[in-house]
Amino acid sequence: MEKINFNNRVAIVTGAGQGIGRMYALELSRRGAKVIVNDLGVTREGSGSDDSAADRVVEEIVTAGGQAVANHDSVATMAGGQNIVRTAVDTYGKVDILINNAGILRDKSFMKMTEEEWDLVINVHLKGAFCVTQPAVKAMKENEYGRIVFTASTSGLYGNFGQTNYGAAKMGVVGIMNSLKLELSKYDIKINTIAPTAWSRMTTDVFPPEFEDKMNPQFNEPMALYLCSQENTATGHIYAMGAGWYGRTSIVSGDGLCLGNAKRPISIEEIRDNFEKISTMENKRAHESALGMFEYMGPLLS
Ligand code: NAI
Repeated sequence: MEKINFNNRVAIVTGAGQGIGRMYALELSRRGAKVIVNDLGVTREGSGSDDSAADRVVEEIVTAGGQAVANHDSVATMAGGQNIVRTAVDTYGKVDILINNAGILRDKSFMKMTEEEWDLVINVHLKGAFCVTQPAVKAMKENEYGRIVFTASTSGLYGNFGQTNYGAAKMGVVGIMNSLKLELSKYDIKINTIAPTAWSRMTTDVFPPEFEDKMNPQFNEPMALYLCSQENTATGHIYAMGAGWYGRTSIVSGDGLCLGNAKRPISIEEIRDNFEKISTMENKRAHESALGMFEYMGPLLS
């Protein structure tokens, strides 16, 4: 079987100074990519800045014979995002791959959360995905080729106590993907989202110590990198993973129920009396776009 390689590919990995992002950067380089190692070098909560986080990973790559350049901008501003992409284009001439991975936490129960804690998390994860992806897509369109990975979390997909800000931001990137995949469908630019799980500084106080080896961040890397490969033709998918388990997850609709005839008003009581049928997830299926809803309303609209 032919090995997947990233020869002549230029890859940006945000937040690649440690944790899961570092794994992506190292493996992309081992398989031939030229890598932009972005990292602001902040604490888990997003404070401070330290250039050495990205620099260390670049040194690791270069020492192993690979090609990489560091970038220390924050993903959370447009100027930062543009500069990250400019670093790739000025150094290596193009952008083929973008993994939006940078992230912070400001966990707090909803009623105690401050506006600052809300904004900081939304800015890094959600606005950051916009700020880096928009200039990257401009560069990708020049070559009509690209592979983009967004990083969500099961906290956003399913919920987690104390993470309303983080969950909203992580679910938000799924919203970006859902529409952007349609806007780019005429190019060979594929966009997917992963929900990783790993032992990192983000989770040391969440997982029991015996998970340290089993939740190795490496286990997230092959899935993310497969999605970044030319071989991958999937777009608009979400994959959850951890410890060597990989599975697709999706927003789906059940069969639901048509009430009335699209002419007479529907009463609250009709909803009450049919709530179970409306709530059924039988025959659940995903949709390519919002237009999928018309499939259900069809009998009422024809
Ligand atoms: P980590 O804390 O080890 O690494 C995140 C990196 O992002 C850090 O090096 C940090 O300096 C950098 N960063 C933070 N804000 C930045 C900014 N504004 N601009 C540039 N760089 C910035 O975290 P880990 O565990 O490797 O997480 C990677 C991604 O995976 C994050 O998006 C995280 O939310 C997500 N994730 C991780 C899970 C886990 O189990 N570790 C679970 C679900 C999602």
